Amino acid sequence: MSGSISLKVQVDAGRCQGHNRCYAIAPELFEIDDYGNSRAKGDGSVPPALEEKARLAVKNCPEHAVRLTQES
Ligand code: F3S
Repeated sequence: MSGSISLKVQVDAGRCQGHNRCYAIAPELFEIDDYGNSRAKGDGSVPPALEEKARLAVKNCPEHAVRLTQES
């Protein structure tokens, strides 16, 4: 078994204030809605090549609205 872990990003809509840093860092992972708030693109899956960007987005959201979850 390879034991691969898949990462997903989520945006807590109750916390997001539309700073858009997540989108600036990783437009591949986030999209902005009509109100300027962010949400995860698609089902939020993070391909391995984008893991670093996903972690940066988590660190850079001033509202701590971005979360990374692991699914194995
Ligand atoms: Fe919202 Fe944070 Fe991104 S406030 S737009 S989730 S940087």
